[in-house]
Formats: sequence, C-alpha cells, structure tokens
Amino acid sequence: MRNCRVGLVGAGGVAQRHARVLAGFDDVELVGVTDVAPEAASALAAQHGGRACADVAELLATELDAVYVCVPPFAHGPAEEAVIEAGVPMFVEKPVAVDLSTAERIADLVARRGLRTAVGHHWRYLSVLDQARDLLADRQVRMVSGAWLDKVPPVAWWSRRDRSGGPVVEQAAHVLDLIRVLAGEVTEVTAYGNGTPPPVDGADIDSVTTAALRFADGAVGTLSAACVLGWKHRAGLEILADGLALAITEDGLSIRDADGERHLPADPEAARVAVDRAFVDAVRGIGDDVRVPYAEALATQRLALAVADSARTGTTVRLAAATTPAALTTGVTVDA
Ligand SMILES: NC(=O)c1ccc[n+]([C@@H]2O[C@H](COP(=O)([O-])OP(=O)(O)OC[C@H]3O[C@@H](n4cnc5c(N)ncnc54)[C@H](O)[C@@H]3O)[C@@H](O)[C@H]2O)c1
Repeated sequence: MRNCRVGLVGAGGVAQRHARVLAGFDDVELVGVTDVAPEAASALAAQHGGRACADVAELLATELDAVYVCVPPFAHGPAEEAVIEAGVPMFVEKPVAVDLSTAERIADLVARRGLRTAVGHHWRYLSVLDQARDLLADRQVRMVSGAWLDKVPPVAWWSRRDRSGGPVVEQAAHVLDLIRVLAGEVTEVTAYGNGTPPPVDGADIDSVTTAALRFADGAVGTLSAACVLGWKHRAGLEILADGLALAITEDGLSIRDADGERHLPADPEAARVAVDRAFVDAVRGIGDDVRVPYAEALATQRLALAVADSARTGTTVRLAAATTPAALTTGVTVDA
C-alpha cells in the first residue's frame, strides 16, 4: 500500500503541529502546503517536506489522499468546498467555522458526497475518557461544571469576534465537546458576558463569559470562559453524579467516590497523535476510530454558538430536542 499523501491548507501553529506528528508516521508523506501567507507555507514545507503551493487548487492537483484544513475560524468555507468537490478525505481543525451557516453548508456538502472527515477535537482521544464513561455508565449525571480560564493567545485574529467567534467558540469548544460526550445533549442555554474586552488592541470579545446549561436528561451545569490571565489556569470539567465526583483535564481524571480519591494521569500529546493516527488509518482503510467526523463537530459548534449567541443577545437559547444525537437535529431558537 502506498504512503498516504497529505496536503495542508494553512501553515500556522496547529498546522505545524500536525505536520510534525504526520512526519513521525512512516506511512505518511507530506506532499504540499498552501497558506495565504506564502512565506509560512514555504517555511513549513522546508521543515517537514512537500512543496509550497500557491493556492488550494494547486495543492489539490498534487494527487492527494487527504487534506488538513488548519485555518482560523473566519477563513473556513472555500477550502473545504474545493476539497469536497475534489472528493478528497478532509481533516478540519476546530472550530469548524466562525458561524453556524458555514458549518451547516459544509456538513451538508460532506454528507451529500459521503466524504470521510475528522475534526481536531483531540480530547476525545484522552486515555481516561473510557474510565470516565464506565464510571458514569450506570449513574445519572446531575451537574456539570466546565471551564476554560486562560490568556489571550498570541494570534491577531483571536480577540476579534468576527474572526474567532470568541473564547467559547474558539477555545472552550474542547470542553463543550467533552461535556456532550459525558453528560449528553444540552437543550437550553442562558449565558452572560461582561461586555468588556481583554486589554488587547482591537479586541471586541467578552473577556469573561458564564453560561447556565440545561441538559436533555435533567442535569444542569455551567460553562465559564475567561481570557484575562497571563497563563493557562484551568481547562476541563467536573461532573457530579450520585456518590461520584469526576474532574477531567487534558492531564488526567480525578475520581472521588465511596472508595476514596484517586487520580489517573493522561498524556495530552498522546491524544494529539492519536487524532491524526485515527484519521490516517481511516483514510488508508485500516482503521475505524474517527471519533469526531464533521457532522459530530457541527453539534458541538451549535452548542458553542448557542452559548455565544445567548451572551451576545441577553436571551435564552433553546437547542432542538436531542432525542436523536445533536448531529442530526437542526437549528436553534432564540427567545425574543
Ligand atoms: N485542536 C487543537 O488543539 C488546536 C490547537 C491550536 C489551534 N487550533 C485551531 O486551529 C485553527 C488555527 O489556529 P493556529 O494557531 O494555527 O492559527 P495561526 O494564526 O497560527 O495559523 C493560521 C494560518 O492560516 C493561514 N490562513 C488564514 N486564512 C487562510 C486561508 N484562507 N487559506 C490558507 N491559509 C490561511 C494564516 O496565514 C496562518 O498562517 C484555529 O481555529 C484554532 O482554534 C486547534
């Protein structure tokens, strides 16, 4: 079987990480990379192989088996459309878009084409997730508390709402995705932002946001996002069930129950490698462990945007009843 020929759209921070991970796989060949900043594409190609292409069309002409779309939230859409049109399996970094309509349009095109996709929600590959799921299997989740308390990342687009979607969409999406896995679907969101941007030039995002969440099965919860610190303070979630408290971060799972307290470590780097390995294996037809295809990421995007919209509009947002997986439900409604 020939090597998996991969192309990259975007050559920034996360693309460099994927290129590094993929370069460590002996069945992957990095064939090309394109970026609106040609010097970024050239630098990545020089470091990890392949050639710098002028645009997505030139990249797609290099006979690819898979494409990674690693652009900032506002830039999603055109690259995906071209990749889908070419029928090439596609890995998309989260968040899949800055808005809902782009994400829904791409999800629809993916479904029509029957294209293999994966999205970079690598927390789903944390080794401790199975233990958390097992512990919750015969208990009802009562309460969830998710948080991403951090700094403003050093990329210019991040602090602009129309570029990043804001901290909930851009960053806390990892936590919201895990909340969906462990506590089920959220049906109602009421969120507040402080209306004060972080002290960064041109910023117009809320520097802190807190949301109250109501879940389909009766649980309640909160999600908080902050970018007022100079460091990453905490990112993760706590879950309470009867007689059980779980705390999950990228670094591990803490468990407290009638047996006492224990901590199971996790390796975030292993999860970042696993998300790429699973996608490549699926593309090569030797594995079936893609945990977040595009349609599943759309459900997380819908939830993140519900939180952001509620904070922006000062209203409660209801998500379509989740008797089916959220990926199959449509739309959100906003209370007037
Ligand atoms: N899964 C994760 O753990 C993880 C980690 C970091 C970043 N991300 C996500 O990856 C995305 C990119 O983040 P980043 O840190 O790499 O940003 P970045 O600013 O470092 O890099 C983005 C790159 O995309 C290029 N670009 C912009 N528009 C483009 C377009 N239309 N076509 C081609 N290239 C284009 C830019 O020139 C830049 O080089 C963000 O959505 C971020 O949330 C995910």
